[in-house]
Amino acid sequence: MTTHHDVCAYRRDREWWQDAVVYQVYPRSFADSTGDGIGDLPGILDRLDYLVDLGIDALWISPFYTSPLRDGGYDVADYRDVDERLGTLADIDRLIAACHERGLRIIMDIVPNHTSSDHRWWREVLTSEPGSPAWSRYMIRPGREESANEPPSNWRSVFHGPGWSRLILDDGTTTDYWYLHLFDSTQPDLDWSNPEVRSEFRDILRFWFDRGVDGFRIDVAHGLVKDPDPPDMDYDSMVETDILGVAPDAPYWDQDGVHDIWREWRVVADSYDPPRILCGEAWAPTPERLARYQRPDELHTSFNFDYLAAGWDYERMRESIDATVANHANVGAPPTWVLSNHDVIRHATRFGPTEDGSPVTKPTVVDDERGRRRALAATMFLLGLPGSAYLYQGEELGLPEVFDLPDDARQDPVWFRSKGTDTGRDGCRVPLPWKANEPSYGFSPQGRSWLPQPDVWRDFAVDQQQDDDASPLALYRRALAQRRSEPALGQGPMEWMDGAPEGALAMRRFTAEPGHPSLAIVINMTEATIHLPSSWGTDVVLASEGDIATLSDDASSHLVMGPETAVWLRR
Ligand code: GLC
Repeated sequence: MTTHHDVCAYRRDREWWQDAVVYQVYPRSFADSTGDGIGDLPGILDRLDYLVDLGIDALWISPFYTSPLRDGGYDVADYRDVDERLGTLADIDRLIAACHERGLRIIMDIVPNHTSSDHRWWREVLTSEPGSPAWSRYMIRPGREESANEPPSNWRSVFHGPGWSRLILDDGTTTDYWYLHLFDSTQPDLDWSNPEVRSEFRDILRFWFDRGVDGFRIDVAHGLVKDPDPPDMDYDSMVETDILGVAPDAPYWDQDGVHDIWREWRVVADSYDPPRILCGEAWAPTPERLARYQRPDELHTSFNFDYLAAGWDYERMRESIDATVANHANVGAPPTWVLSNHDVIRHATRFGPTEDGSPVTKPTVVDDERGRRRALAATMFLLGLPGSAYLYQGEELGLPEVFDLPDDARQDPVWFRSKGTDTGRDGCRVPLPWKANEPSYGFSPQGRSWLPQPDVWRDFAVDQQQDDDASPLALYRRALAQRRSEPALGQGPMEWMDGAPEGALAMRRFTAEPGHPSLAIVINMTEATIHLPSSWGTDVVLASEGDIATLSDDASSHLVMGPETAVWLRR
Protein backbone atom coordinates (compact mmCIF):
# COMPACT_ATOMS: atom_id res chain seq x y z
CA MET A 1 0.00 0.00 0.00
CA THR A 2 1.24 3.46 -0.81
CA THR A 3 0.81 6.08 1.90
CA HIS A 4 1.22 9.70 1.09
CA HIS A 5 2.20 11.96 3.92
CA ASP A 6 0.93 15.40 3.34
CA VAL A 7 3.48 17.72 4.81
CA CYS A 8 1.81 20.89 3.57
CA ALA A 9 1.40 21.81 7.19
CA TYR A 10 5.17 22.46 7.32
CA ARG A 11 5.96 26.10 7.41
CA ARG A 12 6.81 27.09 3.87
CA ASP A 13 9.26 29.77 4.90
CA ARG A 14 12.04 27.32 5.56
CA GLU A 15 13.86 27.79 8.87
CA TRP A 16 17.35 26.37 9.35
CA TRP A 17 16.37 23.97 12.12
CA GLN A 18 13.62 22.32 10.10
CA ASP A 19 16.00 20.19 8.06
CA ALA A 20 19.38 20.79 9.73
CA VAL A 21 22.02 18.14 10.16
CA VAL A 22 23.10 18.60 13.76
CA TYR A 23 26.37 17.07 15.00
CA GLN A 24 26.61 16.19 18.68
CA VAL A 25 29.91 16.94 20.38
CA TYR A 26 30.49 15.20 23.71
CA PRO A 27 33.15 17.71 24.76
CA ARG A 28 35.13 15.53 27.19
CA SER A 29 35.81 13.10 24.35
CA PHE A 30 36.17 15.25 21.24
CA ALA A 31 39.59 16.91 21.42
CA ASP A 32 41.83 17.95 24.32
CA SER A 33 43.93 21.10 23.96
CA THR A 34 45.54 21.25 27.42
CA GLY A 35 46.96 17.76 27.80
CA ASP A 36 44.97 16.68 30.88
CA GLY A 37 43.20 13.94 28.89
CA ILE A 38 39.82 15.68 29.06
CA GLY A 39 38.44 17.24 25.88
CA ASP A 40 37.67 20.96 26.05
CA LEU A 41 36.22 23.97 24.25
CA PRO A 42 39.53 25.13 22.67
CA GLY A 43 39.84 21.54 21.38
CA ILE A 44 36.53 21.97 19.56
CA LEU A 45 37.63 25.36 18.20
CA ASP A 46 40.83 23.78 16.82
CA ARG A 47 38.81 21.16 14.93
CA LEU A 48 35.99 23.35 13.70
CA ASP A 49 37.13 23.18 10.11
CA TYR A 50 36.88 19.39 10.25
CA LEU A 51 33.18 19.86 11.06
CA VAL A 52 32.74 22.44 8.31
CA ASP A 53 34.31 19.99 5.82
CA LEU A 54 32.02 17.26 7.06
CA GLY A 55 29.13 19.45 5.94
CA ILE A 56 27.00 19.80 9.08
CA ASP A 57 24.65 22.71 9.71
CA ALA A 58 24.85 22.93 13.49
CA LEU A 59 26.78 21.76 16.48
CA TRP A 60 25.13 20.59 19.69
CA ILE A 61 27.59 20.48 22.56
CA SER A 62 26.79 18.33 25.60
CA PRO A 63 27.16 20.22 28.94
CA PHE A 64 30.38 22.04 29.72
CA TYR A 65 29.11 23.94 32.79
CA THR A 66 30.93 23.92 36.10
CA SER A 67 30.35 20.42 37.38
CA PRO A 68 31.87 17.70 39.55
CA LEU A 69 31.50 15.54 36.40
CA ARG A 70 29.84 12.73 38.34
CA ASP A 71 27.53 12.29 35.36
CA GLY A 72 29.75 13.69 32.64
CA GLY A 73 28.52 17.27 33.18
CA TYR A 74 24.79 16.44 33.31
CA ASP A 75 25.26 17.36 36.97
CA VAL A 76 25.54 21.12 36.89
CA ALA A 77 26.99 23.12 39.78
CA ASP A 78 26.82 26.54 38.08
CA TYR A 79 24.64 27.12 35.01
CA ARG A 80 26.32 30.44 34.23
CA ASP A 81 29.93 29.32 34.03
CA VAL A 82 32.22 26.87 32.21
CA ASP A 83 33.99 24.06 34.05
CA GLU A 84 37.66 24.99 34.39
CA ARG A 85 38.72 21.63 32.93
CA LEU A 86 36.67 22.37 29.80
CA GLY A 87 37.50 26.03 29.28
CA THR A 88 36.29 29.51 30.16
CA LEU A 89 33.47 31.86 29.29
CA ALA A 90 35.89 33.59 26.90
CA ASP A 91 36.41 30.24 25.13
CA ILE A 92 32.71 29.73 24.57
CA ASP A 93 32.39 33.30 23.29
CA ARG A 94 35.20 32.56 20.84
CA LEU A 95 33.58 29.30 19.80
CA ILE A 96 30.19 30.93 19.21
CA ALA A 97 31.83 33.62 17.06
CA ALA A 98 33.89 31.07 15.11
CA CYS A 99 30.82 28.92 14.44
CA HIS A 100 28.85 31.89 13.20
CA GLU A 101 31.71 33.07 10.97
CA ARG A 102 31.62 29.65 9.31
CA GLY A 103 27.85 29.59 8.95
CA LEU A 104 27.40 26.95 11.67
CA ARG A 105 24.70 27.20 14.35
CA ILE A 106 25.60 26.30 17.93
CA ILE A 107 23.24 24.60 20.35
CA MET A 108 23.96 24.11 24.05
CA ASP A 109 22.57 21.52 26.42
CA ILE A 110 20.50 22.59 29.43
CA VAL A 111 19.77 20.33 32.39
CA PRO A 112 16.63 21.55 34.18
CA ASN A 113 15.38 18.36 35.84
CA HIS A 114 18.05 18.34 38.52
CA THR A 115 21.14 20.18 39.70
CA SER A 116 24.37 18.76 41.00
CA SER A 117 24.58 18.37 44.75
CA ASP A 118 27.46 20.87 44.45
CA HIS A 119 25.03 23.56 43.24
CA ARG A 120 24.64 26.57 45.52
CA TRP A 121 20.92 25.81 45.98
CA TRP A 122 21.57 22.30 47.26
CA ARG A 123 24.36 23.53 49.56
CA GLU A 124 21.73 25.87 51.06
CA VAL A 125 19.38 22.92 51.65
CA LEU A 126 22.05 21.18 53.67
CA THR A 127 22.42 24.11 56.05
CA SER A 128 18.72 25.03 56.39
CA GLU A 129 15.78 24.06 58.53
CA PRO A 130 12.99 21.77 57.26
CA GLY A 131 10.39 23.81 55.41
CA SER A 132 12.79 26.63 54.56
CA PRO A 133 12.56 28.35 51.15
CA ALA A 134 15.77 26.53 50.15
CA TRP A 135 14.02 23.17 50.63
CA SER A 136 11.08 24.15 48.47
CA ARG A 137 13.27 24.30 45.37
CA TYR A 138 13.75 20.53 45.42
CA MET A 139 11.54 17.45 45.59
CA ILE A 140 11.89 16.80 49.32
CA ARG A 141 9.21 14.79 51.12
CA PRO A 142 8.76 13.26 54.60
CA GLY A 143 9.57 9.58 54.94
CA ARG A 144 6.88 7.00 55.58
CA GLU A 145 6.21 5.27 58.88
CA GLU A 146 6.61 7.11 62.12
CA SER A 147 10.32 6.52 62.06
CA ALA A 148 10.49 8.06 58.56
CA ASN A 149 12.73 5.17 57.72
CA GLU A 150 10.80 4.37 54.55
CA PRO A 151 11.12 6.56 51.44
CA PRO A 152 8.03 8.53 50.39
CA SER A 153 7.39 6.11 47.52
CA ASN A 154 8.97 3.15 45.78
CA TRP A 155 10.20 5.20 42.79
CA ARG A 156 13.36 3.87 41.19
CA SER A 157 16.30 5.73 39.72
CA VAL A 158 16.98 5.49 35.96
CA PHE A 159 20.55 4.71 36.99
CA HIS A 160 19.43 1.68 39.08
CA GLY A 161 18.55 1.48 42.76
CA PRO A 162 16.17 3.66 44.78
CA GLY A 163 15.01 7.05 43.52
CA TRP A 164 14.94 8.60 47.01
CA SER A 165 17.78 9.16 49.49
CA ARG A 166 17.54 10.23 53.12
CA LEU A 167 18.33 13.89 53.62
CA ILE A 168 21.30 14.32 55.94
CA LEU A 169 22.31 17.88 56.75
CA ASP A 170 25.84 19.29 56.82
CA ASP A 171 25.87 19.24 60.61
CA GLY A 172 25.26 15.48 60.52
CA THR A 173 21.53 15.60 61.43
CA THR A 174 19.57 12.78 59.81
CA THR A 175 16.25 14.41 58.99
CA ASP A 176 12.84 12.74 58.67
CA TYR A 177 12.92 13.74 55.00
CA TRP A 178 14.00 12.21 51.73
CA TYR A 179 14.97 13.83 48.43
CA LEU A 180 14.15 12.58 44.97
CA HIS A 181 16.86 11.80 42.43
CA LEU A 182 15.61 10.10 39.31
CA PHE A 183 19.27 9.78 38.30
CA ASP A 184 22.35 9.70 40.57
CA SER A 185 22.06 10.57 44.27
CA THR A 186 24.32 13.58 43.48
CA GLN A 187 21.60 14.88 41.11
CA PRO A 188 18.68 16.05 43.31
CA ASP A 189 15.48 16.71 41.34
CA LEU A 190 14.20 20.28 41.32
CA ASP A 191 10.59 21.09 42.22
CA TRP A 192 9.16 22.79 39.15
CA SER A 193 5.98 23.84 40.95
CA ASN A 194 8.17 26.48 42.63
CA PRO A 195 7.99 29.80 40.67
CA GLU A 196 11.55 30.66 41.71
CA VAL A 197 12.85 27.56 39.90
CA ARG A 198 10.91 28.54 36.81
CA SER A 199 12.16 32.13 36.73
CA GLU A 200 15.76 31.08 37.44
CA PHE A 201 15.82 28.85 34.37
CA ARG A 202 14.26 31.50 32.15
CA ASP A 203 17.10 33.76 33.30
CA ILE A 204 19.69 31.09 32.51
CA LEU A 205 18.27 30.78 29.00
CA ARG A 206 18.60 34.51 28.53
CA PHE A 207 22.17 34.48 29.89
CA TRP A 208 23.24 32.17 27.04
CA PHE A 209 20.94 33.50 24.35
CA ASP A 210 22.41 36.95 25.02
CA ARG A 211 25.86 35.48 24.31
CA GLY A 212 24.65 34.36 20.89
CA VAL A 213 23.82 30.69 21.42
CA ASP A 214 21.30 29.60 18.74
CA GLY A 215 19.32 27.20 20.86
CA PHE A 216 19.18 24.52 23.52
CA ARG A 217 18.85 20.78 23.65
CA ILE A 218 16.79 20.18 26.78
CA ASP A 219 17.84 17.28 28.96
CA VAL A 220 15.03 15.03 30.24
CA ALA A 221 12.34 17.29 28.77
CA HIS A 222 9.66 14.73 29.66
CA GLY A 223 10.63 14.85 33.37
CA LEU A 224 10.51 18.01 35.52
CA VAL A 225 6.88 17.69 36.64
CA LYS A 226 6.05 14.99 39.16
CA ASP A 227 2.98 14.02 41.10
CA PRO A 228 3.42 16.23 44.22
CA ASP A 229 2.16 13.46 46.46
CA PRO A 230 4.27 10.58 45.15
CA PRO A 231 2.21 7.40 44.76
CA ASP A 232 3.86 3.95 44.56
CA MET A 233 4.51 2.54 41.09
CA ASP A 234 3.47 -0.90 39.97
CA TYR A 235 6.89 -1.97 38.77
CA ASP A 236 6.08 -5.69 39.06
CA SER A 237 4.18 -5.59 35.81
CA MET A 238 7.08 -3.94 33.94
CA VAL A 239 10.22 -5.21 32.29
CA GLU A 240 13.56 -3.90 33.54
CA THR A 241 14.24 -1.82 30.40
CA ASP A 242 10.94 0.01 30.87
CA ILE A 243 11.55 0.62 34.57
CA LEU A 244 14.90 2.23 33.66
CA GLY A 245 13.47 3.90 30.57
CA VAL A 246 10.11 5.26 29.49
CA ALA A 247 8.10 3.57 32.32
CA PRO A 248 4.65 4.21 30.81
CA ASP A 249 2.18 5.80 33.26
CA ALA A 250 4.95 6.77 35.69
CA PRO A 251 3.78 9.84 37.67
CA TYR A 252 7.17 11.42 37.01
CA TRP A 253 7.39 11.17 33.20
CA ASP A 254 5.46 12.92 30.45
CA GLN A 255 3.06 14.69 32.82
CA ASP A 256 0.75 17.23 31.20
CA GLY A 257 2.21 20.02 33.36
CA VAL A 258 5.58 19.94 31.54
CA HIS A 259 3.94 21.51 28.52
CA ASP A 260 3.29 24.74 30.47
CA ILE A 261 7.03 25.02 31.08
CA TRP A 262 7.82 24.61 27.39
CA ARG A 263 5.29 27.32 26.55
CA GLU A 264 7.08 29.67 28.95
CA TRP A 265 10.45 28.80 27.41
CA ARG A 266 9.13 29.31 23.90
CA VAL A 267 8.15 32.87 24.79
CA VAL A 268 11.76 33.52 25.86
CA ALA A 269 13.20 31.89 22.70
CA ASP A 270 10.82 33.83 20.47
CA SER A 271 11.72 37.14 22.09
CA TYR A 272 15.12 37.01 20.29
CA ASP A 273 15.91 38.02 16.75
CA PRO A 274 16.49 35.63 15.14
CA PRO A 275 14.38 33.41 17.39
CA ARG A 276 16.33 30.79 19.33
CA ILE A 277 15.34 27.15 19.04
CA LEU A 278 14.48 24.45 21.58
CA CYS A 279 14.95 20.73 21.04
CA GLY A 280 13.70 18.33 23.69
CA GLU A 281 15.26 15.11 24.87
CA ALA A 282 11.78 13.76 25.42
CA TRP A 283 11.11 10.07 25.88
CA ALA A 284 7.40 9.57 25.32
CA PRO A 285 5.59 6.23 25.26
CA THR A 286 4.20 6.76 21.74
CA PRO A 287 5.01 8.95 18.68
CA GLU A 288 1.65 10.61 19.30
CA ARG A 289 2.58 11.65 22.85
CA LEU A 290 5.96 12.82 21.58
CA ALA A 291 4.38 15.09 18.95
CA ARG A 292 2.63 17.04 21.74
CA TYR A 293 6.01 18.51 22.69
CA GLN A 294 6.23 20.10 19.23
CA ARG A 295 2.94 21.96 19.27
CA PRO A 296 3.38 25.40 17.67
CA ASP A 297 3.85 27.24 20.98
CA GLU A 298 6.16 24.65 22.59
CA LEU A 299 9.46 23.10 21.49
CA HIS A 300 10.63 23.36 17.89
CA THR A 301 11.74 19.73 17.70
CA SER A 302 12.38 16.70 19.90
CA PHE A 303 14.54 13.63 19.56
CA ASN A 304 12.73 10.72 18.06
CA PHE A 305 13.88 7.76 20.10
CA ASP A 306 11.16 5.51 18.75
CA TYR A 307 13.10 5.32 15.48
CA LEU A 308 16.38 4.71 17.31
CA ALA A 309 14.72 1.87 19.23
CA ALA A 310 13.34 0.27 16.05
CA GLY A 311 16.73 -1.34 15.44
CA TRP A 312 17.68 -3.17 12.24
CA ASP A 313 14.12 -4.25 11.51
CA TYR A 314 12.47 -2.96 8.38
CA GLU A 315 8.90 -3.43 9.59
CA ARG A 316 9.53 -1.58 12.87
CA MET A 317 11.41 1.14 10.99
CA ARG A 318 8.60 1.64 8.53
CA GLU A 319 5.97 1.74 11.29
CA SER A 320 8.02 4.25 13.23
CA ILE A 321 8.51 6.48 10.17
CA ASP A 322 4.78 6.38 9.37
CA ALA A 323 3.73 7.21 12.91
CA THR A 324 6.37 9.91 13.34
CA VAL A 325 5.73 11.71 10.07
CA ALA A 326 1.93 11.60 10.48
CA ASN A 327 1.95 12.77 14.11
CA HIS A 328 4.40 15.59 13.41
CA ALA A 329 2.38 16.75 10.40
CA ASN A 330 -0.60 17.00 12.76
CA VAL A 331 1.19 19.58 14.88
CA GLY A 332 2.95 21.27 11.93
CA ALA A 333 6.47 20.35 13.08
CA PRO A 334 9.31 18.59 11.27
CA PRO A 335 10.39 15.19 12.58
CA THR A 336 13.94 14.43 13.71
CA TRP A 337 15.98 11.26 13.30
CA VAL A 338 18.88 9.93 15.32
CA LEU A 339 20.66 6.59 15.64
CA SER A 340 23.47 7.25 18.13
CA ASN A 341 24.25 9.53 21.05
CA HIS A 342 26.26 9.56 24.28
CA ASP A 343 23.69 7.37 26.09
CA VAL A 344 23.29 4.39 23.76
CA ILE A 345 25.45 1.68 22.21
CA ARG A 346 26.91 3.06 18.97
CA HIS A 347 24.76 1.92 16.07
CA ALA A 348 27.70 0.39 14.18
CA THR A 349 27.76 -2.15 17.01
CA ARG A 350 24.06 -2.17 17.90
CA PHE A 351 23.18 -3.23 14.36
CA GLY A 352 25.88 -5.89 14.26
CA PRO A 353 24.49 -9.41 13.97
CA THR A 354 25.14 -11.63 17.00
CA GLU A 355 25.70 -15.39 16.91
CA ASP A 356 22.30 -16.24 18.35
CA GLY A 357 20.49 -13.37 16.64
CA SER A 358 19.69 -11.56 19.92
CA PRO A 359 19.66 -7.75 19.93
CA VAL A 360 22.77 -5.97 21.20
CA THR A 361 21.70 -4.47 24.52
CA LYS A 362 24.85 -5.26 26.52
CA PRO A 363 28.46 -6.28 25.87
CA THR A 364 28.47 -9.25 23.52
CA VAL A 365 30.25 -10.56 20.42
CA VAL A 366 29.03 -8.97 17.21
CA ASP A 367 30.09 -9.13 13.59
CA ASP A 368 31.72 -5.69 13.45
CA GLU A 369 32.12 -5.54 9.72
CA ARG A 370 28.49 -6.23 9.01
CA GLY A 371 27.48 -3.94 11.84
CA ARG A 372 29.35 -1.09 10.20
CA ARG A 373 27.95 -1.92 6.76
CA ARG A 374 24.42 -1.87 8.17
CA ALA A 375 25.08 1.33 10.11
CA LEU A 376 26.27 3.17 7.00
CA ALA A 377 23.22 1.97 5.07
CA ALA A 378 20.90 2.99 7.90
CA THR A 379 22.46 6.45 8.17
CA MET A 380 22.28 7.06 4.43
CA PHE A 381 18.61 6.08 4.56
CA LEU A 382 18.05 8.35 7.59
CA LEU A 383 19.62 11.30 5.75
CA GLY A 384 16.99 10.82 3.06
CA LEU A 385 14.07 11.21 5.48
CA PRO A 386 12.13 14.49 5.80
CA GLY A 387 13.10 16.69 8.76
CA SER A 388 16.34 17.15 10.67
CA ALA A 389 19.05 14.61 11.44
CA TYR A 390 21.29 14.23 14.48
CA LEU A 391 24.74 12.65 14.19
CA TYR A 392 26.92 11.65 17.14
CA GLN A 393 30.66 12.38 17.08
CA GLY A 394 32.67 9.47 15.70
CA GLU A 395 29.85 7.79 13.81
CA GLU A 396 31.23 9.44 10.67
CA LEU A 397 34.37 7.35 11.28
CA GLY A 398 32.34 4.15 11.65
CA LEU A 399 33.45 3.82 15.29
CA PRO A 400 32.22 0.75 17.14
CA GLU A 401 31.18 0.64 20.79
CA VAL A 402 34.09 -0.17 23.14
CA PHE A 403 32.81 -3.07 25.21
CA ASP A 404 36.04 -4.15 26.87
CA LEU A 405 36.98 -1.13 28.97
CA PRO A 406 38.79 -2.12 32.16
CA ASP A 407 36.42 -1.96 35.12
CA ASP A 408 38.64 0.44 37.00
CA ALA A 409 38.47 2.92 34.11
CA ARG A 410 34.69 3.11 34.00
CA GLN A 411 33.14 6.39 35.18
CA ASP A 412 29.44 6.19 34.38
CA PRO A 413 27.30 6.38 37.57
CA VAL A 414 25.19 3.61 36.01
CA TRP A 415 28.14 1.24 36.45
CA PHE A 416 28.54 2.16 40.13
CA ARG A 417 24.85 2.25 41.05
CA SER A 418 24.16 -1.10 39.38
CA LYS A 419 27.13 -2.54 41.29
CA GLY A 420 28.72 -3.56 38.04
CA THR A 421 25.74 -5.44 36.61
CA ASP A 422 25.19 -2.74 33.98
CA THR A 423 28.39 -1.58 32.27
CA GLY A 424 26.74 1.72 31.45
CA ARG A 425 27.51 4.23 28.73
CA ASP A 426 31.28 4.75 28.82
CA GLY A 427 31.73 2.53 25.74
CA CYS A 428 30.27 5.15 23.39
CA ARG A 429 32.22 7.99 25.06
CA VAL A 430 35.79 6.89 24.38
CA PRO A 431 37.84 9.87 23.10
CA LEU A 432 38.02 10.22 19.31
CA PRO A 433 41.02 9.09 17.22
CA TRP A 434 42.39 11.90 15.05
CA LYS A 435 45.88 10.69 14.08
CA ALA A 436 46.81 7.02 13.79
CA ASN A 437 50.43 7.34 14.82
CA GLU A 438 50.32 9.80 17.67
CA PRO A 439 49.89 9.11 21.37
CA SER A 440 46.19 8.95 22.31
CA TYR A 441 45.63 8.95 18.54
CA GLY A 442 45.99 12.70 18.46
CA PHE A 443 43.22 13.29 21.03
CA SER A 444 45.47 15.00 23.55
CA PRO A 445 48.90 16.67 23.22
CA GLN A 446 50.31 14.70 26.18
CA GLY A 447 48.86 11.41 24.96
CA ARG A 448 46.41 11.17 27.84
CA SER A 449 42.81 10.11 27.60
CA TRP A 450 40.20 10.00 30.39
CA LEU A 451 39.00 6.64 29.05
CA PRO A 452 41.49 4.24 27.45
CA GLN A 453 41.29 4.00 23.65
CA PRO A 454 41.43 0.54 22.07
CA ASP A 455 44.12 -0.43 19.52
CA VAL A 456 41.56 -0.54 16.70
CA TRP A 457 41.23 3.25 17.06
CA ARG A 458 44.37 3.44 14.89
CA ASP A 459 42.48 2.12 11.85
CA PHE A 460 39.58 4.49 12.41
CA ALA A 461 41.62 7.67 12.85
CA VAL A 462 40.57 10.72 10.85
CA ASP A 463 43.95 10.90 9.08
CA GLN A 464 43.50 7.32 7.83
CA GLN A 465 40.14 8.12 6.32
CA GLN A 466 40.28 11.62 5.01
CA ASP A 467 41.91 10.81 1.67
CA ASP A 468 40.24 7.44 1.20
CA ASP A 469 37.13 7.63 -0.96
CA ALA A 470 35.91 4.28 0.31
CA SER A 471 36.00 5.36 3.99
CA PRO A 472 32.96 6.07 6.18
CA LEU A 473 34.18 9.66 6.54
CA ALA A 474 34.23 10.16 2.77
CA LEU A 475 30.74 8.68 2.50
CA TYR A 476 29.36 11.00 5.21
CA ARG A 477 30.94 14.00 3.46
CA ARG A 478 29.44 13.03 0.11
CA ALA A 479 26.03 12.42 1.68
CA LEU A 480 25.92 15.74 3.53
CA ALA A 481 27.12 17.71 0.50
CA GLN A 482 24.54 15.99 -1.69
CA ARG A 483 21.79 16.54 0.87
CA ARG A 484 22.47 20.27 0.82
CA SER A 485 22.21 20.40 -2.95
CA GLU A 486 18.98 18.40 -3.25
CA PRO A 487 15.84 20.48 -2.83
CA ALA A 488 13.87 17.22 -2.54
CA LEU A 489 15.56 16.31 0.73
CA GLY A 490 14.92 17.76 4.13
CA GLN A 491 11.51 19.26 3.68
CA GLY A 492 9.60 17.92 0.69
CA PRO A 493 6.89 15.26 1.05
CA MET A 494 7.63 11.51 1.08
CA GLU A 495 5.73 8.59 -0.33
CA TRP A 496 6.41 4.86 0.03
CA MET A 497 7.06 3.18 -3.31
CA ASP A 498 5.17 0.12 -4.42
CA GLY A 499 7.04 -2.98 -5.48
CA ALA A 500 9.97 -2.86 -3.03
CA PRO A 501 11.40 -6.36 -2.58
CA GLU A 502 10.61 -8.00 0.80
CA GLY A 503 13.05 -6.66 3.40
CA ALA A 504 13.70 -3.39 1.57
CA LEU A 505 12.21 0.06 2.22
CA ALA A 506 11.81 2.49 -0.63
CA MET A 507 10.52 6.04 -0.46
CA ARG A 508 10.20 8.76 -3.03
CA ARG A 509 11.09 12.25 -1.96
CA PHE A 510 9.58 15.18 -3.79
CA THR A 511 10.79 18.69 -3.77
CA ALA A 512 8.49 21.34 -2.43
CA GLU A 513 9.53 23.39 -5.45
CA PRO A 514 7.79 22.30 -8.66
CA GLY A 515 9.95 21.20 -11.55
CA HIS A 516 12.76 19.59 -9.57
CA PRO A 517 13.30 15.85 -10.01
CA SER A 518 12.32 13.54 -7.19
CA LEU A 519 14.69 11.09 -5.54
CA ALA A 520 14.18 7.44 -4.66
CA ILE A 521 15.77 6.48 -1.32
CA VAL A 522 16.10 2.72 -0.89
CA ILE A 523 17.54 0.51 1.83
CA ASN A 524 18.09 -3.19 1.31
CA MET A 525 17.98 -4.75 4.77
CA THR A 526 18.24 -8.32 3.51
CA GLU A 527 21.33 -10.50 3.30
CA ALA A 528 20.76 -10.94 -0.44
CA THR A 529 21.33 -8.89 -3.56
CA ILE A 530 18.14 -7.25 -4.83
CA HIS A 531 17.11 -5.81 -8.20
CA LEU A 532 15.09 -2.61 -8.40
CA PRO A 533 12.46 -1.87 -11.06
CA SER A 534 14.05 0.13 -13.88
CA SER A 535 11.32 2.76 -13.56
CA TRP A 536 12.81 3.78 -10.20
CA GLY A 537 15.86 5.27 -11.88
CA THR A 538 19.42 4.24 -12.61
CA ASP A 539 21.25 7.45 -11.87
CA VAL A 540 23.01 6.71 -8.58
CA VAL A 541 23.31 9.90 -6.56
CA LEU A 542 24.70 8.22 -3.44
CA ALA A 543 25.56 4.61 -2.56
CA SER A 544 26.47 3.33 0.91
CA GLU A 545 28.82 0.66 -0.54
CA GLY A 546 30.62 -0.22 -3.77
CA ASP A 547 28.37 -3.15 -4.67
CA ILE A 548 25.53 -1.04 -6.02
CA ALA A 549 25.55 -0.95 -9.81
CA THR A 550 23.47 -0.46 -12.89
CA LEU A 551 23.02 -3.57 -15.05
CA SER A 552 22.21 -2.88 -18.67
CA ASP A 553 21.25 -5.03 -21.60
CA ASP A 554 20.01 -3.97 -25.03
CA ALA A 555 16.45 -3.44 -23.88
CA SER A 556 16.84 -1.66 -20.55
CA SER A 557 18.94 -1.06 -17.49
CA HIS A 558 18.12 -1.54 -13.83
CA LEU A 559 19.84 -1.26 -10.50
CA VAL A 560 21.34 -4.06 -8.42
CA MET A 561 21.97 -3.50 -4.71
CA GLY A 562 24.28 -5.66 -2.63
CA PRO A 563 23.11 -6.96 0.76
CA GLU A 564 22.63 -4.40 3.55
CA THR A 565 23.12 -1.27 1.47
CA ALA A 566 21.29 1.99 0.80
CA VAL A 567 21.09 4.14 -2.32
CA TRP A 568 19.75 7.52 -3.45
CA LEU A 569 18.54 7.34 -7.03
CA ARG A 570 17.33 9.77 -9.65
CA ARG A 571 15.22 8.82 -12.62
C1 GLC B 1 19.93 12.57 29.86
C2 GLC B 1 21.34 12.61 29.35
C3 GLC B 1 22.17 11.63 30.10
C4 GLC B 1 22.15 12.00 31.56
C5 GLC B 1 20.72 12.09 32.08
C6 GLC B 1 20.66 12.77 33.41
O1 GLC B 1 19.31 11.37 29.59
O2 GLC B 1 21.36 12.39 27.96
O3 GLC B 1 23.49 11.54 29.64
O4 GLC B 1 22.85 11.05 32.30
O5 GLC B 1 19.91 12.85 31.22
O6 GLC B 1 20.93 14.13 33.28
